[in-house]
Amino acid sequence: MCGIVGYVGQKTAKPILLDGLSRLEYRGYDSAGFALNSGGKFTVQRNAGPVQELIDASTHMGLSEKIGIAHTRWATHGVPNELNAHPHRAGQIVLVHNGIIENYSQIKTRLISAGVEFHSQTDTEVFAQLIEYHRKRSEGTPEEALIHAIETAMAEVEGHYAILLLSLDVPGKIFGVQFGAPLVASQLKDGCVIASDIQAIIPYSNQVSFLPKGEILVAAEGKFEVRDPKTKKFHSVKTETIDWSADKVEKNGYESFMLKEIFQQPMVVADTLSGRLPTTEESNFIWDNLEAHRELWKNVQHVYLIACGTSYHAAMTAEYFFEKWAKLECRVDIASEFRYRNPVFQPNTVVGVISQSGETADTLAALHLAKEAGLPTFSICNVPNSTIARESGLQYPTKAGPEIGVASTKAFTAQLTVLSALALDVAHLRGHPQLTSFRDLARLPFDLDKVLSQSETYLKIGETLKDKRIILFVGRGTMYPIALEGALKFKELTYLPAEGFAAGELKHGPIAYIDPQVSIITLAPKDEWYAKTISNMEEIRARGGHIITLGTDGDTEIKKVSHEFISLPESAWGTQPILAAIPLQLLAYGCAKALGRNIDKPRNLAKSVTVE
Ligand code: F6R
Repeated sequence: MCGIVGYVGQKTAKPILLDGLSRLEYRGYDSAGFALNSGGKFTVQRNAGPVQELIDASTHMGLSEKIGIAHTRWATHGVPNELNAHPHRAGQIVLVHNGIIENYSQIKTRLISAGVEFHSQTDTEVFAQLIEYHRKRSEGTPEEALIHAIETAMAEVEGHYAILLLSLDVPGKIFGVQFGAPLVASQLKDGCVIASDIQAIIPYSNQVSFLPKGEILVAAEGKFEVRDPKTKKFHSVKTETIDWSADKVEKNGYESFMLKEIFQQPMVVADTLSGRLPTTEESNFIWDNLEAHRELWKNVQHVYLIACGTSYHAAMTAEYFFEKWAKLECRVDIASEFRYRNPVFQPNTVVGVISQSGETADTLAALHLAKEAGLPTFSICNVPNSTIARESGLQYPTKAGPEIGVASTKAFTAQLTVLSALALDVAHLRGHPQLTSFRDLARLPFDLDKVLSQSETYLKIGETLKDKRIILFVGRGTMYPIALEGALKFKELTYLPAEGFAAGELKHGPIAYIDPQVSIITLAPKDEWYAKTISNMEEIRARGGHIITLGTDGDTEIKKVSHEFISLPESAWGTQPILAAIPLQLLAYGCAKALGRNIDKPRNLAKSVTVE
């Protein structure tokens, strides 16, 4: 969702801000803008629509200014138009904001009765006006008055947010604060860059500082510091090295980020497993923090896995792994449901949260709920040092590298890889070693290569789906969550109706709408439910449904009941879900491309869902 960039230093700020916004486009947005301090006045440009329109509209502006803030907005309060785009001006200040101010309406009413005029429908302008209102009434130097005003406003607003602001009174500095939505800063040789995520910083430096919650940032050309609200003292923030490089966020010759990320999957799985697989029956998977890992799982009797969207499908798949291999009760939940229910926890429960971005608002709230209940927690995140990763008890990072395509692909297979290694390892700790399954994981990158060698076939079949009335994805066992994932990918990329169903549930509803205009993607590798899935396929065929099957290489029986057949390499039960995910990603891709959709940035979607 919204993205923030700020720069203060010796260089011209505008190109850095616009480059940063382009790098944050993947988060999802519908308008963009920037503000520069032009010495005694602000230069502000805002546009509804793509960052490119902002770039085109501002070619003659900001040619010398060395300080500025910029923003991409994903509309929450107020339609996506120029007036609601950030930055928002209030008197002497201009402000950009990520997150939500929940009590904005009460504050707005209060400010209006105090004579403040509003120009937009946004909660952001309320925050800006509130700071300006207090600034005018605060004492001390302009900087002290501004910091006091920000602190006073923070005490009044409810919600979670990250803001950056400029003040005409304090011309060479950027102020900001994060309160539940991340801000990252980096000190460069010639200045300081601040952003809502590391993608906008990585071209300049891999040395970054994650700003602490609730401490006010003051950034100038030579240094940035934060102010501890209790001691009122400024201090520096620990610098961390990020293992991502700028070329990892380029398309490298692929037509889209998503296609590149699909093809990276063999390497991502290999990286995730590299140097960590056990070699003998006696040894375990080698996690980075082995002692803490053993301690965490020592007495566990129940595991809860919480996530949203694609990450939730990874969690659902892992439920089968934990139960079958580790003989451990596993419950899985959607974060937005879990956080508002009243979950009852058994003793010896561990809660795991799964999130590519590590910033999903509902998943973060679920993590907080588990921590408040006093439960040990762990996370599986892809973005290093993301909020969820930092706030969870133990981290099992996926090593997928930056995922830019909004539709998650390589992060999903990396999550499945980590989850299967974790379930196997826990099985071992609980006295149920599954060494052969570890060996199956080891050959996974080769099998993924085999699957990808047929990519043209999947893309072509995908194209043929564009005229269907609805696409139904079905499977049993671990193929059920993969069917859900196939349907999700299809919907988000093509905007066409698609559903995922457990094959055994067909007779309880969806069979009613089967006809030749419906395509049914059946996931039927040779597993223990194979025969049952075939009889479900017969039922569909009898009603005229068009069946495309994903089955095991050389399976002639299943071909007889299918109109089209996609073969998967023969593989073990535990690795089938990872292999089956790839053709489904490519089917959706092929169809979306034929329909001319925006593959990397499907409409209305955001990569990082930082509001609930
Ligand atoms: C779908 C997709 C989303 C995310 C969901 C959770 O392709 O990407 O459904 O999986 O928004 O996001 P994370 O994993 O970042 O918590």
